[in-house]
Amino acid sequence: MGESATTRSPSEIVAELTLEEKAALTSGRDFWHTKPVDRLGVRSTMLTDGPHGVRKQTGGSDHLGLSGSVPATCFPPAVALGCSFDPALSERVGRALGGEARALQVGVLLGPGINIKRSPLCGRNFEYLSEDPLLAGVLGAALVRGIQSQGVGASVKHFAANNQETDRMRVSADVDPRPLREIYLRGFQRVVQDAQPWTVMCSYNRINGVYASQNRWLLTDVLRGEWGFAGLVVSDWGAVVDRAAALAAGLDLEMPASGGRTDRQIVAAVRSGTLDESVLDAAATRVVALAARAVDDPAARFDVDAHHALARRVAAECVVLLQNDGTLPLSPDTRIAVIGDLAQSPRYQGAGSSRIEPTRLDAALDEIRALSATDVPFAPGYLADGSTSDALLTAAAGTAADADVAVVFLGVPAELESEGFDRTDIDLPASQLRLLDAVLAANPRTVVVLSNGGVVALSGFTARVPAIVEGWLLGQAGGGALADVLFGTVDPSGRLAETIPLRLADVPSYTDFPGEHGHVRYGEGLFVGYRGFDARGTDVSFPFGHGLSYTSFAYSDASATAEEVAVTVTNTGGRAGTEVVQVYVSVPGSAVTRPPRELKGFAKVRLEPGEARQVRIPLRRSDLAYWDTRVDEWVVEGGRYVVEIGASSRDLRVRCDVDIAGDAVRVPLTLDSSIGEVLANPAAAEVLGRMFAQSAGGSAALDPAVLAMAASMPLGRVLSFGDFGIEADQVQALLDAAADG
Ligand code: BGC
Repeated sequence: MGESATTRSPSEIVAELTLEEKAALTSGRDFWHTKPVDRLGVRSTMLTDGPHGVRKQTGGSDHLGLSGSVPATCFPPAVALGCSFDPALSERVGRALGGEARALQVGVLLGPGINIKRSPLCGRNFEYLSEDPLLAGVLGAALVRGIQSQGVGASVKHFAANNQETDRMRVSADVDPRPLREIYLRGFQRVVQDAQPWTVMCSYNRINGVYASQNRWLLTDVLRGEWGFAGLVVSDWGAVVDRAAALAAGLDLEMPASGGRTDRQIVAAVRSGTLDESVLDAAATRVVALAARAVDDPAARFDVDAHHALARRVAAECVVLLQNDGTLPLSPDTRIAVIGDLAQSPRYQGAGSSRIEPTRLDAALDEIRALSATDVPFAPGYLADGSTSDALLTAAAGTAADADVAVVFLGVPAELESEGFDRTDIDLPASQLRLLDAVLAANPRTVVVLSNGGVVALSGFTARVPAIVEGWLLGQAGGGALADVLFGTVDPSGRLAETIPLRLADVPSYTDFPGEHGHVRYGEGLFVGYRGFDARGTDVSFPFGHGLSYTSFAYSDASATAEEVAVTVTNTGGRAGTEVVQVYVSVPGSAVTRPPRELKGFAKVRLEPGEARQVRIPLRRSDLAYWDTRVDEWVVEGGRYVVEIGASSRDLRVRCDVDIAGDAVRVPLTLDSSIGEVLANPAAAEVLGRMFAQSAGGSAALDPAVLAMAASMPLGRVLSFGDFGIEADQVQALLDAAADG
């Protein structure tokens, strides 16, 4: 580090720079680096993907995962990690990711991605954590804490409302204020406020018509003003449309390099007076501060073996056992047949910018063989390209017929799931479904193991299969993790971070995805994922939060205060196991539209057979708030809240009530306010009473029966019904006085 950088603050350094140097500093040097200022000791910082491993390219550079990168541990992608419901584990992964980034001289790791899974078709769902903002926010914050504990910055992305790949660089996500705040921004807010990420990456898309990269409301008013973000905002790669507008809106760093073209635009904008130089100074200062923050540690190394072992442990915690009639866990003596090419050629990550070069790769077939005491025959059943043949099907059926249990690996072919485009259906390939039919005919004791980055439809075979294991994409050690779960070395403790619908058409966003002509309307509003399925009472294959263990749990003694929920959980089975205790909250009779229940807390607990433990789960007041569009603020409604606690959003075991004191909401009263709204304010109600009392027969208007009819009538309109002896402006003055008092 240069001498000056140690003695001068970032703003002092920026004060020494020319206008041209400042402009240059706020765009990349190349594809992955910021620019240095050698004479002032400002280093260049490397920013690279992310999120589930370090993708450090040393040859060709691209953001589509095309050119290679140096080997790094491929941890379970977000689709799997979300199902861990485990912030401590996520933080552990973050620490390992940060450690690898540091050892590879990477200053900022581009992740985590915490966009909401609005539709199972989103091509990048494998990079996102959940359909629920609390879960995404809690795990995202834990990842950021872990990464940054190593002196490496995180980049929380893609801010915001980037919930599809179709037309992602132009599409306007047209979202109403409540879902925008309560669903799409809430996770970001939590990560920013709980973990102070060094950087936030703006998304490509527009939000209600304005590009995220030049959205002042988003990048400055909300992110910095409301949430107190103190770090740097970086563009997604190529997201800047108008550089001067972006800088003015709060975008500090354009990536990748623009060859000086857009730097010149900034210089011209300052010279012409259309861009205030102090805005440029602030952005340049943040770039200098970022460079000073990233630890430069040439001696750092990471332990490849230890991280591979960690990747296996983590992956095992993410596997979701969807159903099981007792066929699982397998015993080492069970004569198993393994079927399906995915068992030998694993799908363990998605395609695009997050695709990294693993340090090694475990196949489930080898790992199952390692844990089995018998010979394990294998038949591929289908080819990697998705095709099959009568010969492959016959061989697979024959292999399955001779075994006690057939374990069939099915999944989504790699070429169907990627950054850059969305899926068009959620079906498994027809060839694989034919294979499953053939295997089931030969041996009904069949276990299905799935590898997929986005949800697949299971309803065609759920009733015919004794056990289904949802393996998602589990990273480089996923093969071993699947073997651990199949044999019960690890109790399955993953729970669904997204609903598995019966049919794609049941998904709440179905009719509004992916939009057309540059717009996608988020027509389902707040009712995303389980919020929508529950509101409509739609049957699903497996609900949000679902996942089985090899043991069973009982819930009792629920109680709640405004700060905490307590419940006793008992392991009622014969094995040690892990339960994810989930707290859902609803507000019966709420004055605003609400989903039937929303996740407000969770905890993962491991219990020995027969062990009972009181689990205490904190409730945050801010999580109970809804976004009140009358005042543009978060508001906690007062009243009785119902707290339901259970093993999934549809397996609620115990409940209790808690009275929550509400926030005082000062809604301005005007002549356009309804009589009902005026009466809700005691002082204003008195004004109204006096007004009516003065008019002939007016007091009848306060009769409850009349009021029921008149409550929705705007006050100003009432004035036109008679002579109240008062003018409109006098009424407004009285209302103002009442509101102040
Ligand atoms: C992706 C980002 C990624 C960036 C750099 C973009 O295409 O949307 O997630 O971090 O490329 O590779």
